Amino acid sequence: MRQPRIVGLGGSLKEPSSSLSALEAALAACREAGAETEILRIGSLDLPLYAPGIEPTADAVRLAESAAAADGLIWSSPLYHGSISGSFKNAVDWLQLIADRDPPYLSGKPIGLIATAGGVQGLQAVNTMDFVVRALRGWSVPLVIPVARASQAFARDGTITDPAVAEQLRSLGVEVVRAARQLADRGSCDYAQHRSGADSLDI
Ligand SMILES: Cc1cc2nc3c(=O)[nH]c(=O)nc-3n(C[C@H](O)[C@H](O)[C@H](O)COP(=O)(O)O)c2cc1C
Repeated sequence: MRQPRIVGLGGSLKEPSSSLSALEAALAACREAGAETEILRIGSLDLPLYAPGIEPTADAVRLAESAAAADGLIWSSPLYHGSISGSFKNAVDWLQLIADRDPPYLSGKPIGLIATAGGVQGLQAVNTMDFVVRALRGWSVPLVIPVARASQAFARDGTITDPAVAEQLRSLGVEVVRAARQLADRGSCDYAQHRSGADSLDI
């Protein structure tokens, strides 16, 4: 296949953001694995609270179009109160702009999941993201990275200080690129012939 395009979406509204640093590290590994990458920093995007029918901002359109054009994605959210952050959820709600594409939403795309947590329950945010991925017809990559005690794993400038976390994020980036190539090579996206019958709002 041509060079895979991997789009990263994540980070928080604070600076520095450990979830953003983790995303950047995983995307760097994607590039080392031969992909081109784009990063969508939630803290830098003009994304009003999504409401049906609301006029999308230029950033909302960019987010949706970048996701639609991606061969794979990586999502990274902080753990907020046992779940993903509100700003992360609002960002993915803007993918409603690609609900009616053919195929809809993120059909057939692999998505790598990262969460950074103050404590040790980051998997709760990862699992929440997994629910969203499935609702949007994507494929969660089995390897997930819940970073525990993030303040100890990242320096204030975003540098990863924990070599084990750095290695996990590198592995995720490589795995997302591998999965993007595999799904593309198998030509598994002939949705016109293998349509399930579910329209975009059935799930
Ligand atoms: C509103 C809020 C809620 C949080 N809830 C949790 C939580 O439930 N469990 C936890 O371990 N950490 C929690 N944290 C800590 C964040 O998960 C942690 O600081 C994370 O690394 C922040 O990511 P960021 O640097 O990208 O903003 C919370 C932080 C905030 C601001």
